[in-house]
Amino acid sequence: MVYVTSDTHGAFDIHKINPREFTAAQSMGSDDYLLICGDFGCIWDGGKTDEFWLKWLESLPWTTLFIDGNHENFDVLSTYPVREWAGGKIREIRKNIFYLMRGEIYDFAGKTWFALGGGYSHDSSFRTRGTDWWHEEVFSKEEAENALNNLKKHGGKVDVILSHDVYASHSCSEVYPLELDRYPEDRINQMEFLEDIRTRTDYRLWLCGHYHQDSIEFADQKPCRMLFNDVREIDDLMEEARTAKLQLEEKSRLENAEEEDSCSAGFLSSHQLCAIG
Ligand SMILES: [Fe+2]
Repeated sequence: MVYVTSDTHGAFDIHKINPREFTAAQSMGSDDYLLICGDFGCIWDGGKTDEFWLKWLESLPWTTLFIDGNHENFDVLSTYPVREWAGGKIREIRKNIFYLMRGEIYDFAGKTWFALGGGYSHDSSFRTRGTDWWHEEVFSKEEAENALNNLKKHGGKVDVILSHDVYASHSCSEVYPLELDRYPEDRINQMEFLEDIRTRTDYRLWLCGHYHQDSIEFADQKPCRMLFNDVREIDDLMEEARTAKLQLEEKSRLENAEEEDSCSAGFLSSHQLCAIG
């Protein structure tokens, strides 16, 4: 089983995956995964606090996987060794805690997963570079190229896309103004890049976080599920998305039927044509 959530933020929000609160955890074992869509936050001070949480996570029976969000210490994260796992590159944090690197595609638990971590800190002007903010929070050109190459190798098709921030056409993309001039030349516009990935990838479900809400929306009929408080099993999320899509289609069918009815009624009562457009 693969359970998914987002934004654990170290000590602040990690309680949601504590087996005392996340009761499904009590039946999870070594073949199961807990996946965090960024803002893991347990690689932050590079010292005792990180050690405390990593030791606790390591003691849990499952494998913890995470993509990066904007609230990771990228200097410390980059010190962990890179190795191959499930068809892609990971950084091994502990024997059962892996960082899924940007642009890598993995095959595990019967699905393929495309990791596209990173995201914009909307409060970066109040933060200090190298202390609590890093340019590396968004994709470099090289990372983007790697992602596109890997996607090509997989024939443009994956089951699940994992991101922290959203693609440009998502309704949350304009919640905060972007301060793009704070990033050096080698960084790309992350939301536009994710939008490009969205339009060129055949995927079943997009999962993201960052905006601290649990919601679902569709782009070209494809679901994007945002997670925050929820810790949900992946097949359960896929079923939820399928149901939400059917409900939307039914709603739109009823609205169209209502519109047609009112057009017919208007025609019969006034002998006038309904306005079009
Ligand atoms: Fe975030």
